[in-house]
Amino acid sequence: MPPTHPTEVTLDVHLGPDELMAGMRHDALHGLGSRPRELPPTWFYDNVGCRLFDAITELEEYYPTRAERSILIDYGDQIAKASQADTFIELGSGTSDKTRHLLDAMLQLGQLERYVPFDVAEPTLRQAADQLVGEYPGLTVHGVVGDFRHHLHLLPAGGRRMLAVLGGTIGNLPPEDRAVMLATLSAQMAPGDTLLIGTDLVKDPARLVLAYDDHAGVTAAFNRNVLVRLNRELGANFDLARFEHVALFDPDNEWIEMRLRSVGDQQVSVGDLGLTIDLLDGETIRTEISAKFRPEGWQAESEAAGLELVSQWFDPAGDFCLSLSAKPGV
Ligand code: SAH
Ligand code: TRP
Repeated sequence: MPPTHPTEVTLDVHLGPDELMAGMRHDALHGLGSRPRELPPTWFYDNVGCRLFDAITELEEYYPTRAERSILIDYGDQIAKASQADTFIELGSGTSDKTRHLLDAMLQLGQLERYVPFDVAEPTLRQAADQLVGEYPGLTVHGVVGDFRHHLHLLPAGGRRMLAVLGGTIGNLPPEDRAVMLATLSAQMAPGDTLLIGTDLVKDPARLVLAYDDHAGVTAAFNRNVLVRLNRELGANFDLARFEHVALFDPDNEWIEMRLRSVGDQQVSVGDLGLTIDLLDGETIRTEISAKFRPEGWQAESEAAGLELVSQWFDPAGDFCLSLSAKPGV
């Protein structure tokens, strides 16, 4: 007899292969077809991209993952108590690696029934969900494959929910989109539901830039991988050797930008889109912003969306912040 698996993973796929391609085509057409050129970071995360991101989290220069992990270890019990949640929904959950510290704390309290990892990267999500049901017998794992820019109305309802965006991913959205996402989340939260957000904090620009431009070149490979993906999946002909990785800190906006800079004048075509673009020497494609926050700034943003700040927690060095806000009404 093969071993039996008492608990199974449920997976809602709102973004199957066709929708995924349609989304990528739309973003590539609009982002590459006009100036300044831009590609949303969502498309970094194919299988190679997810593995490269995992490698980034282990780099000496990339402190945010370690800092956030230490907060989850030190204050997970406080977060669990403050939330009182039986359902934990994580947007952009990736491998759910750090999340385990929080799941442990919530299970310790005895209220957690359901974990809902939500991600655009189906294979990574599936693997994480499968591992979690094995590690946490009795926990319902209900994965959702979707794009959090479009599918927030499809989050599972019911129970007392804590929604979360960890890893500084909220900072990868442009401020206007971030405000829309917060308002959308707030509108569907019931009184007593909470929102947990991980934000990287403003600090010495030199340290910030190094976190996105490591010596081993892992982040550079991650950045260029989006071009590899467009070549493979949209029939583009980007010559990787002719794009340089750029990371810079914009002090006015207090965000990091990652770009790919054209080496020389060149023409690139994206076959499946019927799109041909001319890039000038030095012209860049912006591939990501990563906003850096101040604790009071995040408080103001969440209050503008109708949420009340419950508490904020920091790592010992003060590099990173976890903020918990609640929907008022109980
Ligand atoms: N939360 C993890 C992973 C952060 S990397 C951590 O803290 O380490 C960002 C994650 O968000 C990736 O897993 C990526 O696939 C996912 N992601 C990026 N854009 C997304 C989108 N628009 N919708 C859903 N998930 C997205
Ligand atoms: N949310 C992460 C961040 O902004 C994502 C990230 C880290 C990232 N390093 C990156 C995205 C490099 C693209 C390239 O810190």
